[in-house]
Amino acid sequence: MEKLVQLTRIAFSTTFSFYVKVHSFHWNVEGSDFYQYHKLFQEIYEEVYGAIDPFAENVRKLGAYMPTSYHTLNMLTRIEDENQVPNLEQMIQELLLDSEKIQIVLKKNYDAAEAEIEHGLSNFLAERMDAHKKHAWFLRSSIKRL
Ligand SMILES: [Fe+2]
Repeated sequence: MEKLVQLTRIAFSTTFSFYVKVHSFHWNVEGSDFYQYHKLFQEIYEEVYGAIDPFAENVRKLGAYMPTSYHTLNMLTRIEDENQVPNLEQMIQELLLDSEKIQIVLKKNYDAAEAEIEHGLSNFLAERMDAHKKHAWFLRSSIKRL
């Protein structure tokens, strides 16, 4: 159970840092397609933000406490912070890579939840994997060269 708790905290922290990154790209994106990507990033960060609270409540349902500081979240996340303002193409590539990493983190957490017969949590994680798969599809499609 301790392993499941830790994997859920890691998945939460990775989700949270992805949310922060996408929201900052929504603010900082520039270029001739500004509005399109400003809106796309908004759609993604709003969807991901909607998962933050239920994610944390799943940790509490396991009887564990949530990380209480940015420092702890930063120790647990599995995606890299972005400290610069990348150009549009770099933003999309980075979010695509992060989306793939998040799906791997969620799958590990899902397998641990199934092993502990925590089906409520595994259902939630399956939905999160699917949501990130959809974000990856949108991001991938938007940089495809035709
Ligand atoms: Fe906004």
